Amino acid sequence: MPADLLTHALDAKGFMPDDEGAFLHRLGRERLPHGPALEIGTYCGKSAIYLGAAAREVGGTVLTVDHHRGSEENQAGWEHHDASLVDAETGLMDTLPVFRRTIQRAGLEDQVNAVVGRSTTVAAWWRTPVSLLFIDGGHAEVHAQNDYTGFAHWVMAGGTLVIHDVFERPEDGGQAPFHVWQRAVQSGSYEPLETVGSMRALVRTRGDAGELVG
Ligand SMILES: C[S@@+](CC[C@H](N)C(=O)[O-])C[C@H]1O[C@@H](n2cnc3c(N)ncnc32)[C@H](O)[C@@H]1O
Repeated sequence: MPADLLTHALDAKGFMPDDEGAFLHRLGRERLPHGPALEIGTYCGKSAIYLGAAAREVGGTVLTVDHHRGSEENQAGWEHHDASLVDAETGLMDTLPVFRRTIQRAGLEDQVNAVVGRSTTVAAWWRTPVSLLFIDGGHAEVHAQNDYTGFAHWVMAGGTLVIHDVFERPEDGGQAPFHVWQRAVQSGSYEPLETVGSMRALVRTRGDAGELVG
């Protein structure tokens, strides 16, 4: 990870430990020469900096999807609420301005591209093969499963699926990302590749982009 961008990544608001960010950056460097990387769940752009840094180094494009209204746990009264991210006029969460500033300050506007909308809506129109898919959107069961259903089949043969916040034991964290990881393995289309912390990478070993996975 280039030192200048590591500083921006560490300073950015978000939930990604540095070792997991470094892992994501390494995976991005390996995969971006083969096609775009797609992130589901932008928040304020922290993980996008790790992927964007890889794109700056090896070339390539990062697309990142979020409605920017926050997940359940980001809303007022919940564990991960940040009152500074509430739009004063609407009273709604709005992480888009902070994301834009974060990516601009990091100098990654040419590499990191925001897609603003619900992931299910974007998925309904998505037709592009991706070299790397990073699922880190809503962590409720329905949202995590929808993100897999909507995008996992767009990973190209030999491409990488990365799932964040995978905890096998309920006492360590929510189970939805683990269920998605199990679904990917049971599909027969993905095999485990490598794990760092709660971040699990899998490789697509069966089928190609656009062909359904289980
Ligand atoms: C855990 S945060 C992403 C963190 C980010 N990847 C990082 O490491 O810096 C999850 C994000 O998913 C977004 N999100 C949740 N459900 C969504 C949905 N159905 N469609 C689009 N975005 C969603 C939330 O707005 C939130 O910003």
